[in-house]
Amino acid sequence: MSKGVGEAPGKILLIGEHSVVYGHPAIAMPVEGARARVEVDLARDGRIEIEAPDIAQRAVEGQPTPARLAPLQRLAGSVRELFGEPGVGLRVCVRSSIPVGRGMGSGAAVAVALVRAICAALDRKLADDQVEELAMEAEREFHGTPSGVDVAVTARRQAVYFVRGRTPQPIAAGESVFRFVIADTGIEAPTMAVVEEVRLARERDQARLDALFWELGSMASVAREIIRCGAPAEMGVCMSHAHAILKEVGVSSPELDALVHAALSAGALGAKLSGAGRGGVMIALVEDTAAEARVAAALRDAGAVGLFSAALSR
Ligand code: PMV
Repeated sequence: MSKGVGEAPGKILLIGEHSVVYGHPAIAMPVEGARARVEVDLARDGRIEIEAPDIAQRAVEGQPTPARLAPLQRLAGSVRELFGEPGVGLRVCVRSSIPVGRGMGSGAAVAVALVRAICAALDRKLADDQVEELAMEAEREFHGTPSGVDVAVTARRQAVYFVRGRTPQPIAAGESVFRFVIADTGIEAPTMAVVEEVRLARERDQARLDALFWELGSMASVAREIIRCGAPAEMGVCMSHAHAILKEVGVSSPELDALVHAALSAGALGAKLSGAGRGGVMIALVEDTAAEARVAAALRDAGAVGLFSAALSR
């Protein structure tokens, strides 16, 4: 029987995390160096089995399913139903180099890769927005009320200007290359819990939090123009200011602040946490490859447990 493979990249948020949940714009881009890869073999027995060797977990239909794999098992069932193939068995193997729970969109990438792998195995095609709609099903189980930005970026594999509920717009980069170093604190921070804490903070002090979200959203619009004009130095200022606002929102941590400080001291143009915060990753914008090496070394010295890079260009 036939086999299908699906892949999807990780992502970083350049600006607009948390405020995006409240309807403000955000900018996010894929990280091609961190990827989810899903292989699907069809079987005749009608059973869905999912294996995730990286996290040493396995789900077999009819047996208790590990919590992390349950949304994927339901998603695989939904895709099979959609294609009118309820009787076909699926043997799924999930591999990913995207660190889990670090704000790099691992759940969304695995979900998108799974949908694509099943499509390939069944020799069916879906449009990007259909893939996104299906993957959002799993993303809601992973994260509660996700804005959808992770799924949009990983499915489209391009930088997007994202507003919740609207079609994501591709970001057009100008002449310059925007180079990012991504550093992992090694601390797993559940997005759902951090988003809920922010919601409660807003309930207590709505005027203050809404003003901070409004500022982040306005900066996302400004950043889109900065990227379009090709002005990395201005983008750096924007990013560092966004980090200061996110600190006021209450989602940074001593580890994230230390990495941001290390990157700026080593000459980064700007640096901020990326994703839900509290742990996970931070990103630094650097001028060129020499600065990239210098900043990466400084981040490693300051305790980063993993490093990635990403570049946004025309
Ligand atoms: O999945 P993360 O950690 O990158 O969080 C996504 C960003 C948030 O704005 C905090 C949540 C969301 O749904 O957009």
